[in-house]
Amino acid sequence: MELMFKNDFYRDKAFEFKETQDNNHTLYDAFFVLINGIDKMDLDNLCRLIMDYHSDKNLTFDEAYAITQGQSLPDKLNCDDSTKKVVYTLALYCIENGTHLGNKTIMDGKINTSSWLSHSLFESILCGQLADTIGLDPNKAKILGLLHDIGRKQTHDFSHTIRGYEMLVDQGWESEAIACLTHSFLAGGRCSSNEQAEPGFYVDDEGISHFDPTAKKDDITLFLEKYQYTDYDLILNIADLMATDKGIVSPFDRIVDIASRRKAFDPTNRGFFLAELTNHLNSFRLQMQGKNPNDLVEIRASRNVSLDDLNNSFAEASTNFFDVYKEFYPSKEQPKKIV
Ligand SMILES: [Fe+2]
Repeated sequence: MELMFKNDFYRDKAFEFKETQDNNHTLYDAFFVLINGIDKMDLDNLCRLIMDYHSDKNLTFDEAYAITQGQSLPDKLNCDDSTKKVVYTLALYCIENGTHLGNKTIMDGKINTSSWLSHSLFESILCGQLADTIGLDPNKAKILGLLHDIGRKQTHDFSHTIRGYEMLVDQGWESEAIACLTHSFLAGGRCSSNEQAEPGFYVDDEGISHFDPTAKKDDITLFLEKYQYTDYDLILNIADLMATDKGIVSPFDRIVDIASRRKAFDPTNRGFFLAELTNHLNSFRLQMQGKNPNDLVEIRASRNVSLDDLNNSFAEASTNFFDVYKEFYPSKEQPKKIV
């Protein structure tokens, strides 16, 4: 699918992106950006928890919803930093107890917004954990995890990447906006994804990817060729392949889950994607174990390697990665459902 920015303003900004000094954005602000404009029915469980938590204020459902939309209630409750922190904490309570923030299941017949919000929160948690294992800033990683899929407010197709970028830039979240562009493309490979390969993309006999020089490249392809992935982008890539709407699973299980909801994968990039993902998981696992990832012998989707072989390598890398992850973060007891 061809992915183009709406205009040159966004295109230039993305192509010339340079990481600047830290901003003052908090995790709680990020959560409020995420849920801004979300339908009441996608936040009704969260609203009820807010009403319970602030029972002394006698909030109505609509007032609790107004708080989630960043509005202060005269004489009752200000939507200040401490209120936002409470709302965010209640949202985590919700998902960790097996409940979505809301009960609406389908929006526009295409996207399950309640699931999408849970996925974003689980991904945020996982990004923070993975960042912590290799000494990066967990808070920054959590913010990126929360916002990476914000473009799904507009569309559920692959252009949610570019639409999300534009939405965050419009709201002054420029450095976070890059996460929208990078999260779906493993290590910067345009077709290293779960999508169909782009016209002109091919993998040579050695397993190296190329574009036919006569093929027209879309904006995302050109952006990825210029942009240097950071460890935060790489964490997002992995986390997006482990966070579902119900929790955190092994990359292998997540790929199976995605595959079950899509038509057959495109074989042109399937092997390439599996090889890249395998290398990426092995490399990150070594980093988590304090070993040198440069010692890794990478695999390639070369001509003499079958898709079955690549799948087996991926399954093994997934198991090994998930075992090390669970040493850091053993899974909790099965949480109870909120009644
Ligand atoms: Fe995602």
